[in-house]
Amino acid sequence: MSASDTFLLVVRWLHLLSAAAWVGGSLFYLLVLRPALRRAPDSSGLLGAATATEFRAVVETAIFVLLATGIVLTFNRLTPGIAGVPYVATLGVKIALSVLMFALALGRRNRSPILDAYAPRTPASGRFARALRAVSGYNALVILGIVIFLVSDLLKVLYESALEK
Ligand code: HEM
Repeated sequence: MSASDTFLLVVRWLHLLSAAAWVGGSLFYLLVLRPALRRAPDSSGLLGAATATEFRAVVETAIFVLLATGIVLTFNRLTPGIAGVPYVATLGVKIALSVLMFALALGRRNRSPILDAYAPRTPASGRFARALRAVSGYNALVILGIVIFLVSDLLKVLYESALEK
């Protein structure tokens, strides 16, 4: 294994690790921690706020690492001239979705978790309002992350099929 192969292995590993930490951590928050905090009778909201503050550092590191390693992976895939139009178009979609995900996450950073913890929760009335709430805020971020994982797997399949041609 050459030095450049080792470098690429480390870059891929860091990319995947950051994506897993961010999306996995967000899924844990949505599916486990948030429902548990809501059900806890003596929950003051402060634990949720403290957790959000701690997780923020993970998200910011993940964004930085995903961007830096994503650029290296993109150069590595595009420079040999093997990747065809479907690969490049799919990569374009992935980059657009990633930028949206970064913007959503960094937009949330400016909100105070303490104020969020004490914000009154008005129940959504009507089917449309409930559907809108389901795909907004943190849910939208997690759905985007899951879709980006799928698009990344598609990229791998497209590249491997371009290699076989
Ligand atoms: C601008 C940001 C990003 C760029 C430029 C980028 C670029 C890339 C590229 C070129 C690949 C290689 C695909 C292939 O096998 O041909 C890749 C893989 C991957 N990316 Fe990204 N990516 C970015 C952001 C993200 C984000 C936000 C996530 C997850 C939320 C993500 C998750 C993944 C995963 C899971 C893989 C597969 C890694 C592996 O199989 O080793 N990426 N990315």
